Amino acid sequence: MTTVAESPHAGRLRALASEMLAERRLIIASNRGPVEFALDEDGTPAGTRGSGGLVTALSAVARYAELTWIASAMTDGDRVIARREGPSRFRGPIPEEQMYLLFVEHQKAAYNRYYNVFSNPLLWFIQHYMWNTPRTPNINLADYEAWDEGYVPVNRAFADSIVREVAGDPLAPYVMAQDYQLYLVPGFVRESLPGAIIQHFVHIPWPDPRYWELLPNHMRLAIFESLAAADFVGLQTSRDTRNFLHSCEAILPGADIDYRRSSVWYKGRLTNVRAYPISIDVPTVEDLARSQEVEFYEKRLAPLLGDLNILRVDRMEPSKNIVRGFRAFELLLRRHPELRGRVNFLAFLVPSRQEIALYQTYTDDVFEIVDGINDQYGDEEWQPVRVFHENNYTQAIAAMKHYDVLLVNPVIDGMNLVSKEGPLVNGRGGVLILSEAAGSHEQLGQHAISVATADVEGTERALFEALTMGPDARSTRAAAIGQQIRNYDIAAWLESQFRDLRSLA
Ligand code: G6P
Repeated sequence: MTTVAESPHAGRLRALASEMLAERRLIIASNRGPVEFALDEDGTPAGTRGSGGLVTALSAVARYAELTWIASAMTDGDRVIARREGPSRFRGPIPEEQMYLLFVEHQKAAYNRYYNVFSNPLLWFIQHYMWNTPRTPNINLADYEAWDEGYVPVNRAFADSIVREVAGDPLAPYVMAQDYQLYLVPGFVRESLPGAIIQHFVHIPWPDPRYWELLPNHMRLAIFESLAAADFVGLQTSRDTRNFLHSCEAILPGADIDYRRSSVWYKGRLTNVRAYPISIDVPTVEDLARSQEVEFYEKRLAPLLGDLNILRVDRMEPSKNIVRGFRAFELLLRRHPELRGRVNFLAFLVPSRQEIALYQTYTDDVFEIVDGINDQYGDEEWQPVRVFHENNYTQAIAAMKHYDVLLVNPVIDGMNLVSKEGPLVNGRGGVLILSEAAGSHEQLGQHAISVATADVEGTERALFEALTMGPDARSTRAAAIGQQIRNYDIAAWLESQFRDLRSLA
């Protein structure tokens, strides 16, 4: 894709990146890579964009800085690529020139323990406050094994591959490790590369120390000690940084916390704790929204649109609160017969983590409520809800151009990039309904209609208010949100991190 527009931050960011990279290399490590490969019928791997907020945001980095991106080989196609390219580099198709993608291949059993038992659901559910603590979780031998034989060795393999990759470089690299799957990477890398400049960015919420105490002490301590070996810990919001500092105080014995400077001293090292609210690559998303591919999907979707359209775009994920969203819609149709036949709900739900039983039952719950609504209110001519259960980002962008209401009501969310993509591409002055517990609420809440996570009644009222809002109020809000997103785009997110990293070099 050729990009016409540029972020206002692009010039400064490129200058900063080239200063940084003159001395040290930049390594990004994340569990999911920017592309994943599926094998076609004759066994040839074909790449598609990875799903989720992390990939959406980080794919932009390569536009500004040359980097090596290390990710897990997650599919059979990824493994074919990993073996074919060996320890050398694969040039990723997004955005070609400056990125080398290096897959780390793990043993399947170890990866399964790391991904399907420890990271998701255990850690993910802790960080999203999703356990029902009187009953769950029940941490048992399988979790202990998932730690010892999954999470620890997979993190070790990532660190080893970073160390191998930079062997022979005159100076240790900048390492930007991503998210909850890789909490042990800073500690392992620090052991081998004491001079590395390490940042760990956490894309998901950081809970209160009490909730961390659900995790056995040795696991929790290892996670916190490793993060305290990083130079910077980046989080999404100021709320998360406060929780991080509080939890270091509670969990790391002898740690010295400076709340004013937002830093942690532990075992003779200083870790700076910063909020860097993640964002989207504005010019790329806008270009895509204007592209022929998107136009193709717009034509396909046109017959499914009603007079009024409510939209949601999410991974099929319990923390996204999809079921409560449909409960509120059902209530809306019950209370407002005048809306029946006029308002359509289009839900773009990307399949996610289907190996995990909790995700399977959640998926079943979503389809059950959708079928219920369609049976009760739909007829041959009109189906109130349409679910698109597939990973098709282009189609989702096409749909986002046409909503009247974008429903983003997660139980809790690190940032939520849909709440930034939607208002950027939408052409109808659509209204954003936003959960107070989404990270993006700190930036966008003022111009959205806020809802409390569990408040089905309030969500129904918010839907009605949004659907009946006058055009002036709609467009004032939409313009304010669009401006916010343009001012603080992904380049601004990166620039603030690069500045911090550079300050230590
Ligand atoms: C969230 C997490 C990411 C993760 C993504 C998709 O955005 O913060 O780390 O990559 O979800 O999840 P998945 O398990 O499919 O990679």
